[in-house]
Amino acid sequence: MKTGVIKTLVLLAGLLPLAWVAYWGYQGDLTANPIEYITHHTGWFSLLFLMLTLSVTPLRRLTGWHKVIQVRRMLGLFAAFYAILHFSIWFVLDKFFSVPDMVADVVKRPFITAGMVGFALMLPLTITSTAGMIRRLGGRRWQQLHRLIYVIGIAVVLHFWWLVKSDVREPQRWAVVLACLLGFRAWWNWRTKSSS
Ligand code: HEM
Repeated sequence: MKTGVIKTLVLLAGLLPLAWVAYWGYQGDLTANPIEYITHHTGWFSLLFLMLTLSVTPLRRLTGWHKVIQVRRMLGLFAAFYAILHFSIWFVLDKFFSVPDMVADVVKRPFITAGMVGFALMLPLTITSTAGMIRRLGGRRWQQLHRLIYVIGIAVVLHFWWLVKSDVREPQRWAVVLACLLGFRAWWNWRTKSSS
């Protein structure tokens, strides 16, 4: 499949969750608690795109389909885009732009602390995702910085795990996915090192 086609499909897929909320918002049908709905919706899709971004390297290694690397940045930017929406909904509609209230909540509720760690670390990765920033940082330093995505993955899964009251099955599933994606990397690096 041509790279342009792959990128267009990822772009459309990335905008779909936003179009979905806009459409049902316009219909006035975003459940009885629209703020909770859009908070979960944006958080969930940010997590999904984060995991899709982390899936690119294993997919390349396992299939030899190297072209997929060309959509990794777009997937990462969609993860950041929905995280920024997610954070903004909380900061605007829950904290009413109050920085002291935001800080108090980050200190008080562990799931918010974990969410904030994930979000704060996404910002430098987003800012340094341009070709110009890669050139400026240099490949090695850029790669070192972008390994923070592993920490972001762990922080966000903890965020989800700590926020659910009793039924931890969904964050558990995400934890297994993350463990497989990071575990594959560790195994691949070990295998490469031991065979060289
Ligand atoms: C400052 C940063 C963040 C804040 C303040 C925040 C806040 C929240 C809140 C208030 C909820 C709903 C909790 C509830 O229902 O009681 C939530 C859910 C969630 N957040 Fe965050 N979050 C942050 C960062 C993130 C990031 C960076 C991600 C993903 C990359 C994320 C993913 C999620 C997910 C997956 C859910 C649960 C969605 C579901 O139940 O389907 N959050 N977050």
